[in-house]
Amino acid sequence: MTEIPEHLLARSKARRDGGAAGGGDATPAAAPAADAGGSAAVEKSAPAATAVVDSTPAVPDPVAPWVEAAQKRKKIPFWAVPVLAFLPIWAVLYALTLDLPTATEPGPLQLGAEVYAKCAGCHGAGGGGNGAIPALTGESAVTKLFPKPADMITWIALGTAGYQSAGIANYAEGYPVGGSGAQMPAWLTSLSAEEIMSVTLHEREAFNGETFDIAMWEDGFEETLTKLLPADKVEEFMMVLEEWKANPPA
Ligand code: HEC
Repeated sequence: MTEIPEHLLARSKARRDGGAAGGGDATPAAAPAADAGGSAAVEKSAPAATAVVDSTPAVPDPVAPWVEAAQKRKKIPFWAVPVLAFLPIWAVLYALTLDLPTATEPGPLQLGAEVYAKCAGCHGAGGGGNGAIPALTGESAVTKLFPKPADMITWIALGTAGYQSAGIANYAEGYPVGGSGAQMPAWLTSLSAEEIMSVTLHEREAFNGETFDIAMWEDGFEETLTKLLPADKVEEFMMVLEEWKANPPA
């Protein structure tokens, strides 16, 4: 047989005795019944319980611990209202001012700086030259040697060997091809037209303080390139120049 727990026995005895267990001793379960003043069901099925309710002394209802906790708990601070009210406005402002990351390709100057990593080993990080390899600044500044960017482009494209096989004596005035005793590589096949033009721009602007001038770049451009480079390559260079004309590199 199952044993009936002691406290249940005690409770039912108290019920039978009528009211002895009332008041502070009431378990939470008994509270709703007392509270309701005895529902119909309670009245019908358990007259004894009604008696309990009726005889309950007018002791103030003990406040249940969770009610007490709720009353003591910190209330929502008064400033929360304006803060909450501002939230939607903030959301709109946030959405309106949000700059979506534009996955743009690097501009010519940035591309040129990146491409220059391939040249720095010989010409120095700042274009200051290195032993037999000429500097791109100062006495042999590229802006001085190549007043027209087009001449610099063909030189970078073909290098020492390319100019020698084309029978060109000087790559610039007073600068004989092979005169340094070292070889400038050809870049026409390993770099794109855009990369060659961008590194040209980088050396002129970053190392020699020139600012982009479309008229200077267009000067003899097609003519100079057509003399030394294959037609399809010239086409590529022309397209980049058109692009730069529409959107000058800044
Ligand atoms: C392997 C070494 C080497 C590398 C790498 C190199 N160059 Fe040169 N460059 C030379 C040499 C050597 C000369 C001189 C050529 C000669 O005497 O015929 C030269 C000359 C030049 C000149 C003429 C400079 C002047 O003022 O006399 C320019 C412009 C130039 N290089 C650009 C570039 C660019 C742009 C790159 C990278 C894309 C590059 N070079 C990579 C060795 C190099």
